[in-house]
Amino acid sequence: MDEMVITLKVGRFSTADELSAKEQQLLEAAGKASEHAYAPYSNFYVGAALLLADGSVETGVNQENAAYPMCLCAERAALASAASRKPGIPVLKIAVRARHAQKLIDRPVGPCGACRQTLSEWEDRFSQDIVVLLQGEKGTVYRLSRAKDLLPLSFDGSFL
Ligand code: THU
Repeated sequence: MDEMVITLKVGRFSTADELSAKEQQLLEAAGKASEHAYAPYSNFYVGAALLLADGSVETGVNQENAAYPMCLCAERAALASAASRKPGIPVLKIAVRARHAQKLIDRPVGPCGACRQTLSEWEDRFSQDIVVLLQGEKGTVYRLSRAKDLLPLSFDGSFL
């Protein structure tokens, strides 16, 4: 028996000011988008902003439903929107911001498992790593160089 050690390297920035101007703008776009989230059940408003290879930015927000399991996360809303509006254009970066109506979210929010799986598919689909930027309403930002790092030992199309 041997053991595999899987490491996760995360860039930790105490404020967004430490990031490049482009990445700060992407986080700002995600925060702005979150204002349009439809989250009457959780009161947790999430915005995702994607930087595409053509330089454009596409956003998405969470879409909740009275039938709770149908809720769609901001990340997947943004990816589906980008793939529909800008077919064939790879995603280079995703920024995700979240805020809560009743409490301050001052730490980065990690994407759910389904969004990690979807981001992993997008990296395979376009043969393009996606930089991930995570932040709450304010404060610390996490930066990962590729989304797949968030999903070790993942399932992908190579098994099929
Ligand atoms: N949510 C997202 O949109 N993205 C995440 O990364 C975490 C969770 C949404 C789903 C649901 O509408 C609400 O946040 C609470 O789970």
